Amino acid sequence: MRVHVVHAHPVETSYNHSLFHAACEALEAAGHEVDALNLYEENFEAVMSRKERLNYHDVPNNISDCLRPYVERLQAAEGIVFVHPVWNFGYPAILKGYFDRVFMPGVSFEMSDGPENGRLVPKLRKIRKAAFVTTYGGTRFRTIVMGDPPRLLAKRWGWVTFRGAPRPKYLALYDMNNNSPERLKAFQGKVRREMSRF
Ligand SMILES: Cc1cc2nc3c(=O)[nH]c(=O)nc-3n(C[C@H](O)[C@H](O)[C@H](O)COP(=O)(O)O)c2cc1C
Repeated sequence: MRVHVVHAHPVETSYNHSLFHAACEALEAAGHEVDALNLYEENFEAVMSRKERLNYHDVPNNISDCLRPYVERLQAAEGIVFVHPVWNFGYPAILKGYFDRVFMPGVSFEMSDGPENGRLVPKLRKIRKAAFVTTYGGTRFRTIVMGDPPRLLAKRWGWVTFRGAPRPKYLALYDMNNNSPERLKAFQGKVRREMSRF
């Protein structure tokens, strides 16, 4: 399967970045074709411009030349994996910007009756599997008190968006601020195992 692995962490020596590597390696070892996208390395522009917002519903002209390669990579994917830390109970801005700017009408969904009163129809039908690999500084309990928005997004938004796939797998390591080397290693092993049977 062609698997798009999208990563959002600014530091190449970070634990999160090591998970990105582990995921790519395990997928490749399992025979998948990996298309790795490191958003920071590519200097992905997170901010939607005024022009992009004005053109947002103008399919297919809403795909500008600078977004086209990202759109094509997404459309070619048969599986998708996101590797990112949780920041302020959500995605790092660069990943949020990727969703805002690339997951647009005509790409990830269509409005069946136009932008005013249309029903959302998911479009990324080629994607048969999706997963999120993520790390939190806080404990699971503290995060549940806040509603754990990234988990909900992955499980619900991810499920609706990748309609051709079962509910996305959510691999999360909580309490990073207090984790032992053994737990860090064990989670990396879990990510490798899950990716090798992706
Ligand atoms: C800007 C920023 C915001 C953060 N917000 C949260 C948060 O809302 N909840 C949480 O559990 N951890 C939060 N953290 C902690 C990160 O999730 C944690 O540092 C990361 O998962 C650890 O991975 P790393 O060492 O590879 O960066 C935040 C960290 C940063 C830098």
